Amino acid sequence: MKPVKVGICGLGTVGGGTFNVLQRNASIISARAGCPVIIGQVGARRENPACDTGDTPITHDIFDVARNPDIDIVVETIGGYDVAKELILTAIENGKHVVTANKALIAEHGNEIFQAARDNNVIVAYEAAVAGGIPMIKCLREGLSANKVEWLAGIINGTGNYILTEMGDHNRPFPDVLKEAQALGYAEADPTFDVEGIDACHKLTIMASIAFGIPLQFNRAYTEGISRITPSDIQYAASLGFRIKHLGVARQTSEGVELRVHPTLIPSSRPLANINGVMNAVVVQGDAVGQTMISGPGAGAEPTASSVIADIIDIARTMESPDAAVNALGFSQESLSNSLPVLPVTDIECSAYLRIHADDHPGVMNAVTQVLSKQGINIDAITQKVTREDDGCADIVILTHKTREGTMNNAIAELEALKEIKSPITRIRVETL
Ligand code: HSE
Repeated sequence: MKPVKVGICGLGTVGGGTFNVLQRNASIISARAGCPVIIGQVGARRENPACDTGDTPITHDIFDVARNPDIDIVVETIGGYDVAKELILTAIENGKHVVTANKALIAEHGNEIFQAARDNNVIVAYEAAVAGGIPMIKCLREGLSANKVEWLAGIINGTGNYILTEMGDHNRPFPDVLKEAQALGYAEADPTFDVEGIDACHKLTIMASIAFGIPLQFNRAYTEGISRITPSDIQYAASLGFRIKHLGVARQTSEGVELRVHPTLIPSSRPLANINGVMNAVVVQGDAVGQTMISGPGAGAEPTASSVIADIIDIARTMESPDAAVNALGFSQESLSNSLPVLPVTDIECSAYLRIHADDHPGVMNAVTQVLSKQGINIDAITQKVTREDDGCADIVILTHKTREGTMNNAIAELEALKEIKSPITRIRVETL
């Protein structure tokens, strides 16, 4: 059989992992692909000391790889936007199939990239873009394709999950744990993408399109990060029977699609509440299958390489007839529909956890509950916690019944205007899943 030649662009964490696993598992990969799969060229500005590149041809110009007539599949692992997009479009124009781990690019420019691939009759595969080593794209797009997906919810940023787990288990401060996650190679080049939920939102955007057959709409999603969560929130939540996880939630309702990433209280007994460290997991509720959960490492060199190489093998199997490959988002192009709008977050309904740092005086609790009562917000649980700060204040912790987000925003604004309330209120949405 004619060998399939792969060109790897970028030899960082993911590119280096891909190089090493392709070398180490060459015979099993070739057996599965049905032909030898060879690294034909590497494009990288720097060597990766973890990779023995031996006599593999190396160029410093990644565009050499995209134009190299010997290369069949270009693997983009440089990350970022402009150069990565140009590289992928150049590869496509040159008739190459593309494998990318770049969730930002797919979430924000995927509609254009997939159109270019269709125009040039090539495949763009992106399994590694969502949840690292978990075969999440295949799971949703192929394994669950019989289902009407009602909702999905996932822990889809390993760095964020690692930070929340360490903060809760060891009472460690946020910046310390973030530094460690960066050193372990989990975090994005710009770690605000991890801690402010942008990375998770990229992944959620992609999953929602596959789940509901809607075009990629990153800009319409609601995103909130974990940087305001404190170890006290984690402890208060635990005392109420919950864990705090940074979730991406996509739900289809009769009015539209909810698309949101935010810290979330989950009952401690739910499987998702027990996914810790850098692990990712996604729960999918389908009308036929019921609830399924898939979990695994969401970041790291070889877990992500595992997904990149699965795509390479898939392409090697189908590259003679790319028309037969699964559509990029699972739905045929004609049936992708905008008829389900992405709902503004003010229209969603959620229970909420509120932490209110307030003067420890008689009547404060009364003032707080009056505001909630006036807004028609029903309290599910309420408690006052002594804080370690010696500022004459206490934390009032409240769980509410389901409330429309817009109403909750009004209540929070009214509460924050009370003179007894000393700092911004922490609101964490609750999902029972
Ligand atoms: N920074 C990402 C994470 C890497 O922490 O999950 C994988 O996308």
